[in-house]
Amino acid sequence: MIEFENINKVYNKNWVLRNVSLKIGKGDVVAVLGPSGSGKTTMLRCMNFLEKADVGTMNFDGAEYDLHTISKKNTAAIRKKTGFVFQNYNLFLNKTALQNVTEGLTVVRKIPKEEAVVKAKAALDKVGLSDRYDFYPSQLSGGQQQRVGIARALVTDPEIIYFDEPTSALDPELIGEVLQVMRNLADEGITMIVVTHELSFARDVSNRVVFMENGEILKDVPSKTFFEDPGDERIRSFLRSLS
Ligand SMILES: Nc1ncnc2c1ncn2[C@@H]1O[C@H](COP(=O)(O)OP(=O)(O)OP(=O)(O)O)[C@@H](O)[C@H]1O
Ligand SMILES: [Mg+2]
Repeated sequence: MIEFENINKVYNKNWVLRNVSLKIGKGDVVAVLGPSGSGKTTMLRCMNFLEKADVGTMNFDGAEYDLHTISKKNTAAIRKKTGFVFQNYNLFLNKTALQNVTEGLTVVRKIPKEEAVVKAKAALDKVGLSDRYDFYPSQLSGGQQQRVGIARALVTDPEIIYFDEPTSALDPELIGEVLQVMRNLADEGITMIVVTHELSFARDVSNRVVFMENGEILKDVPSKTFFEDPGDERIRSFLRSLS
C-alpha cells in the first residue's frame, strides 16, 4: 500500500537516516523500536514531509514520488490521506476538543461545518470522550488530550496513521487508556506505524517490529519473531534495558 525506499537524511554532515526502506501493507501495525537518537522520529517526519529527506522515494496509491523534490501540491494531497499523532499532542490550546477535531475537516478539506461536527463527535466518541466535546486542552488530562489528538488524526479516515511516542509524555496511570484506544484502532484494521517504548504494545498489538539503530533498520520482522528470537545481541540488550 505504501512503500518507502532508500530514505537518507543528513544533518550537518551527520547521517541520521541511511537507506531506510519500509513496505507497509493495508492493516499493518508496525511498531518502531530502537535506542534514543537512532532516527525513529526523523524517519516518521520524513515519511509525512514534516522534514525533507535528502534522498528517498515513496510509492503511494499507485504513484511514485521523490521525497526530496516532491511538490507542495502532492505533499498536501498525500497528507490529506494520512494522520499524525504527536508526542506532545499539538492541540490548539484556544480551541475545544470538538473544535480541534473539526478544524482539519472544515479548514483543510472544506467540509461544511454541520457535517464536520457530526464526524468529529463520532471520532471523539470512538476515543471515549463523548462527555468532553466542549473542554479546552487545559481542562483535560494528558491522556484525554492525547485521545483528542488521536480523534483528530482519525476523523479524516486516513489510509495510515503515524504515531510518534504517543504515550511517552503521559503519567504512567494514563498510558493504558491511550494504548487501549490504539488497540481498538488496530482491531478495526487501521494501518498504523507507531514509534514506541511500550513493549507490551509492540508484543500484543503490532504485527511487525522495525528495530532501528544509528539511522538504519537493523530488523524488520514479525513481532512474534522479534520477541521470541531477536537474533542480535544489540536487540537483546535494548530489550533488557526497557524491561
Ligand atoms: N533538526 C535537527 N538538526 C540536527 N540534528 C538533528 C535534528 N533532528 C534530529 N537530529 C539528530 O538526528 C538523530 C536522530 O534523532 P531522532 O529524533 O530521529 O531520534 P529518535 O530515535 O526519535 O530518538 P528518541 O528515542 O530520543 O526520540 C539524533 O542524533 C539527533 O540529534
Ligand atoms: Mg523520537
